[in-house]
Amino acid sequence: MFVNARIQIVRSVVFRAIVLHCQLILALLFLIGPSAPRAQQSPSSLRLMPLPNSMQTGQGTLAVNAHFHAGFSGVHSVRIDAALDRFLWRLDRQCGDIRRMQSTAAATDPMLLTIQVAGPGAATQSVDEDESYKLAVTTSQATLTAATDLGAMHGLETFLQLVSMENGACRVPAIAIDDTPRFRWRGFMLDPVRHFEPVDEVLRTLDGMAIAKLNVFHWHLSDDEGFRAESKKFPRLTEVASSGLFYSQDQLREVVAYARARGIRVVPEFDMPGHSSSTTIAYPEYGSGEDLKSLPLVHDAPRAELDPSSEKTYKFIDTFVGEMSEIFPDAYFHIGGDETEGKAWLSSPSIKAFMDKKGFKTPPELQAYFNQRLLPILSKHGKKMVGWDEILNPSLPKDIMVQSWRGVDSLAQGATQGYTGILSAPYYLDAQKTSEEMFLADPVPAETTLTPDQQKLILGGEVCMWAEQIHPETVDSRVWPRTLAIAERFWSPQSDRDVAEMYRRLRLASLELEDVGLNHISGPEKLRRNIAGNANPEALDVFASVLEPISFGDREDAQHTDSYTSLNRLVDAVVADPPARQQIAHDVDAIVTQAPGSDAAAAASHLRQRFESWQQAAPVIQAWALRSGRLSDIADRARQLNALAQAGLEALAFLDTHTAPPAAWLDAQKAILADVDKPSALVRFVFLPSLQKLVDTAASQPAIAPSRQP
Ligand code: ACM
Repeated sequence: MFVNARIQIVRSVVFRAIVLHCQLILALLFLIGPSAPRAQQSPSSLRLMPLPNSMQTGQGTLAVNAHFHAGFSGVHSVRIDAALDRFLWRLDRQCGDIRRMQSTAAATDPMLLTIQVAGPGAATQSVDEDESYKLAVTTSQATLTAATDLGAMHGLETFLQLVSMENGACRVPAIAIDDTPRFRWRGFMLDPVRHFEPVDEVLRTLDGMAIAKLNVFHWHLSDDEGFRAESKKFPRLTEVASSGLFYSQDQLREVVAYARARGIRVVPEFDMPGHSSSTTIAYPEYGSGEDLKSLPLVHDAPRAELDPSSEKTYKFIDTFVGEMSEIFPDAYFHIGGDETEGKAWLSSPSIKAFMDKKGFKTPPELQAYFNQRLLPILSKHGKKMVGWDEILNPSLPKDIMVQSWRGVDSLAQGATQGYTGILSAPYYLDAQKTSEEMFLADPVPAETTLTPDQQKLILGGEVCMWAEQIHPETVDSRVWPRTLAIAERFWSPQSDRDVAEMYRRLRLASLELEDVGLNHISGPEKLRRNIAGNANPEALDVFASVLEPISFGDREDAQHTDSYTSLNRLVDAVVADPPARQQIAHDVDAIVTQAPGSDAAAAASHLRQRFESWQQAAPVIQAWALRSGRLSDIADRARQLNALAQAGLEALAFLDTHTAPPAAWLDAQKAILADVDKPSALVRFVFLPSLQKLVDTAASQPAIAPSRQP
């Protein structure tokens, strides 16, 4: 077996060093040009995402399936052995025969891919860990070097993204990559409270994170609506406050181990003192006198607050944090801390008396006291505090970390006061923003007013997936592929801002995610089949391709979404920022600008076909809406699709014949566009600015003077 073969590859240290040295010199000699270009100059054929810090392409390619043999030069850990195994499975799926070649290679056969890792990295991954790697590929071999397993794992992901199939053979371009992340904290937060996400979903999210080179899984394990982590010391937390939906301690450990195997830290969050209804229902003695009868169903229901005036509360937290620290080894412990209104504190006579005694006039002062009491408890268990914006208070020491959800300004405010921080405000996936918007939002933008030392306090950012409006069937399509665009922002140079180039690679990396088991493409397809009750819901696919969900706030206002709302309608089977948005914008721009090199005629032809497909789909959907309960709300949007298609076709016809439309035509199109702008069916069309542009361009053509009679 290749595992044994790998173990047999034991060469002398000196020999290994010489071989590796020669390989690197050969690689460098082979590569052209004296200096590495910045990452955004990526050759248009590459599909690397995130872009490396620097890379230099060479001439020629390395044939991967000629005689594949990968292995290590030097010591290697069990963790990186397992990472190589996973790499081989994935390469085998792309290229075929990889695992067979690997298993039959003799230990002495030259290696096509040599991995050299100086050491495994810290036993508990730290925020300061060296994640850099170098990957040199020539036409005869590839060499991956890294200081730790983490860098080597990132390098293996990069290698997989370099592979392409040409004429039936897998190849990797000659290239030299020298890569290191821009930010140390590249996180993804999952909320399994509002809707529970089973452990399999968590594991596949970690697979996606590894591809995106994200390195922190922030697990929001408690909130008002439920408590999702088993405690043996406080069993009522899940017995009473989880509706039976929680992770056992074995599952928590499984996730931590799975994440570590992929170079990902796990930071658990237990929200306190606010967002604590679940804790307070299970153990009213730690609450502030609220009389909660059942778990809240909606996220803005009255929230309970732990009682900061009671010593019992701190004893509970001490025991609980101690228990969780046995499971979660990370140095950081997220205490939540957001949105603590203190209403229960102010209406509790004993807590109010406590505040008066301490001289606290407002709930934030009491919350700062609570956090001060938490600090020695956390440090007793070897933990540093991380919490949302609201924990920021000058009375707390500088080694706490603030996660900014209310905006870049509050992040900067923390940094100017000397606190470390991460940015999340622009990366709330349920805001349904485009990949472009989130990719361009930078934790430290070029125009920042922070000093260089203050900038160093911004450790990175986190994508946030709140779960009020998702469930296990839809979560992947909300998270991916947009999270790849944000992950690139966290990893790649600040100067990487080419949106068109980002989208080109995003579409390709998105397929790679499906290949490892995520279902952000296939999930919505399946849902649409089920919603239509039809094995071939082509009309619905056409319709869905130009729709996206409305934002979290708009949906909440329109639907009053709660834990029992069925998330089973078209809004759940469409995705934010679908590819059609850019494709239509691209075609319209080609027609409007008539720029040299843009094929306006081809663009007009694409658009015409697209509009015609809408016209065919609309009546089918209208008929389905009459007979399917799950489509009953979309008849109006289907009617609008038909009207928009007609508007587009007429605009194209006026442009084609260089005819200025009558003024009444423009008024009619304006009325159509105003009509579709109104809320309906929790979805919105993604192409309206482009269609508006097309209509305006058609309407602004100069009227052709009537030809004179001869
Ligand atoms: C938050 O969104 N309340 C952290």
